Amino acid sequence: MSTYYDDSQAVFSPVTRSAIFIVATITNTPEHHATVRNWCADVAAVVRSVAKRAPDGRLSCVCGFGSTAWNTLFGLPRPAQLHPFREIGSGGRVAIATPGDILLHIRAEEMDLCFELATQLLNKLGDAVTVVDEVQGFRYFDQRAMIGFVDGTENPEGRGAIDFTVVGEEDRTFAGGSYALVQKYLHDMKGWNALTVEQQEGIIGRHKQSNIELDADVKPSSSHSSLTTLEDENGNEVKILRDNMPFGRPGMGEFGTYFIGYARSPAPIEQMLENMIIGLPPGNYDRLLDFSHAVTGGLFFIPSLTLLEELSTRSVPPNGH
Ligand code: HEM
Repeated sequence: MSTYYDDSQAVFSPVTRSAIFIVATITNTPEHHATVRNWCADVAAVVRSVAKRAPDGRLSCVCGFGSTAWNTLFGLPRPAQLHPFREIGSGGRVAIATPGDILLHIRAEEMDLCFELATQLLNKLGDAVTVVDEVQGFRYFDQRAMIGFVDGTENPEGRGAIDFTVVGEEDRTFAGGSYALVQKYLHDMKGWNALTVEQQEGIIGRHKQSNIELDADVKPSSSHSSLTTLEDENGNEVKILRDNMPFGRPGMGEFGTYFIGYARSPAPIEQMLENMIIGLPPGNYDRLLDFSHAVTGGLFFIPSLTLLEELSTRSVPPNGH
């Protein structure tokens, strides 16, 4: 059990109706690096200020840093498991890595709150960053993913969520932190909707209408739920915390799912991705990927609240180490 959750950023915020995901790269000058470091000490206060304007709005923000940015901005020590996003590819299915130094995951009941917080946080960063991806996600009916199935059912809750997502004694300096892996998926909805409901249910591993898991004797081993269910060496289930959001522009034919997975180490999320893409055994891959492809991919470390503030005081030699 990780005992450092009191100091975590809002990783376990309850699912909200709206979210904004922002990935930005930092501008490579010492002055801009200093701006980003100073900003780290401001984030919590900006979130508080905007949140107070709508007390029932459940506004929260999680911010994280990519591997290269960590070296450049903060140097050593660095989170033990932080590395650049590892591309995985097989048979035309690829989890691509795309540029990204800073991740902002902003959640609230209403989009105006998310929008205001994103605006205020980005204003403070100014030209120290360039936003390379920005997605506004919305709740789709009863928490359904764009593909029509309820999403998030098997998320860990309570102490489980803490155990699976908060770094503890294994990396003491970074205790209270988490890792987040993000991917922006686009769906071929024409192809998906041409399947029968039974075919779709076999791909996900759950009944579409009732959200009940398929019985073990009929659930295909290639189903999304089978391939993303992991066990450790003692046979205990290893979970991650997901807060995916649908997004899209129907007029442009864009229908997407923004995937975000939080965990205490990147390893289980990467293992799930490998199972989905390569297959278990190889070739027995996730058919959801015949109708969905990732157009971004990034891995970020989410420092604890205390560390986030402290990072503003780091001074890093010009070569970043
Ligand atoms: C389960 C949708 C990508 C990990 C599910 C479920 C849906 C879903 C509908 C079933 C309900 C639930 O338990 O949440 C999607 C969509 C994706 C996507 C639309 C993007 C195209 C991913 C990725 C990962 C992942 C990239 C991990 C790397 C999981 C896990 C479960 C799950 C761990 C729970 C499995 C279980 O315990 O039964 N997903 N997912 N998903 N997904 Fe995904």
